[in-house]
Amino acid sequence: MAADSPSPNGQSFQLPSYKDQSPEVKERFQRIYQRPVVMNVKALGKVFESGKGPVEVLQNINFQIHRREFICILGQSGCGKSTLIRMFAGLEEPTSGTVEIAGQEEPTEGAGVGVMTLKPVEGPGPDRGMVFQSYTLFPWLTVKKTSCLACGKRELPKRPPKKKPKNGSIWSG
Ligand SMILES: Nc1ncnc2c1ncn2[C@@H]1O[C@H](COP(=O)(O)OP(=O)(O)O)[C@@H](O)[C@H]1O
Ligand SMILES: [Mg+2]
Repeated sequence: MAADSPSPNGQSFQLPSYKDQSPEVKERFQRIYQRPVVMNVKALGKVFESGKGPVEVLQNINFQIHRREFICILGQSGCGKSTLIRMFAGLEEPTSGTVEIAGQEEPTEGAGVGVMTLKPVEGPGPDRGMVFQSYTLFPWLTVKKTSCLACGKRELPKRPPKKKPKNGSIWSG
């Protein structure tokens, strides 16, 4: 699909659709979609109870993520991005539907892609990491070091905050 737009000289020209892909990009996506599925989101929905009654935040979300696929979730503030990611992390329970993630790849005989068995998310686990938007970040660490906190060595960051904690909490590390 393409959109007609007026040019400064009054003539209209065709803007390419954001869905249009170059042959190279199209081919790359086709290759990605041949890889094993590592996350399967099926009919996912979330309803929060509020003082004014139930609020349906997410309804019938369906998609698959393939191995080494990089995806972004875009949407205006309050549309449910964090709720969706919290359900992937196992920090929030879906009201309906399921999130399945791949376990360890089981090697097949000979060369080729191993089998990845999908299992439903039933809570948080070391196979998934979530970097929160605020409060839980460590501003003196790089993005990489913050992301790596949850995996591998589970040590506290070396440098304590410069300001003394006001609430009397103790910093150790
Ligand atoms: N624990 C909760 N209880 C009730 N409503 C919530 C809760 N968490 C989020 N919401 C509501 O769900 C909607 C989506 O929130 P959120 O997922 O944080 O959006 P986003 O991350 O896209 O900004 C908002 O209207 C928010 O107020
Ligand atoms: Mg958010």
